[in-house]
Amino acid sequence: MVCLGNICRSPLAEGVMQHLADEHNLDWTVDSAGTGSWHVGEGPDRRSVRTAQRFGVDISKQVCRQFKAVDFDRFDLILVMDNNNLSDVLSLARNEQDAAKVRLLLNDKEVPDPYYDNNQFEPVYRLIEGGCKDIIREYAHLQID
Ligand code: 4NP
Repeated sequence: MVCLGNICRSPLAEGVMQHLADEHNLDWTVDSAGTGSWHVGEGPDRRSVRTAQRFGVDISKQVCRQFKAVDFDRFDLILVMDNNNLSDVLSLARNEQDAAKVRLLLNDKEVPDPYYDNNQFEPVYRLIEGGCKDIIREYAHLQID
C-alpha cells in the first residue's frame, strides 16, 4: 500500500487489508510505504490512528518508511492511492514485471489525501475499506460483504 507520506492513507490501507486478511484466514504479507521521505521513522497521523481505532483496527504501531525499488521484489501487488503515487512508483520500476505489479487501490478513482481536512479521514477510511474488500474478492476469490 503506497501513498505520498505513509502517515495518512497507506497506513489505513495496510491496517484494513491486514485485518481483513486475518479475518478470512489469508496468509498475506501486507505492508505500506510512502513515495516521500519526510515522515520516515514516525508513526501514522493521529487522525488515521483514531479513525482506524473506531472501526476496530489498530495501526498505532506502524512505522513510516519510504518505497524502494526492492519492494518490487518483496511484493506481488503494489496498490497505490492516487495517480501521483502511480507515476512515482512506476518511475522506480526496473522492468515490465515490476511495472505490472502496480495499480490503483480503487481501479477507476483516487483515494484523496485527507491531510488538510480532518473531516476526510472517515470517508477515506470507507473508500479504502471498499477497495480492500474488492481486492480480496478478486485475488482470494471470496464472496464477502
Ligand atoms: P498521505 O498524506 O500521503 O496519505 O500519508 C500526506 C501526509 C503528509 C504529507 C503529504 C501527504 N506531507 O507532505 O507531509
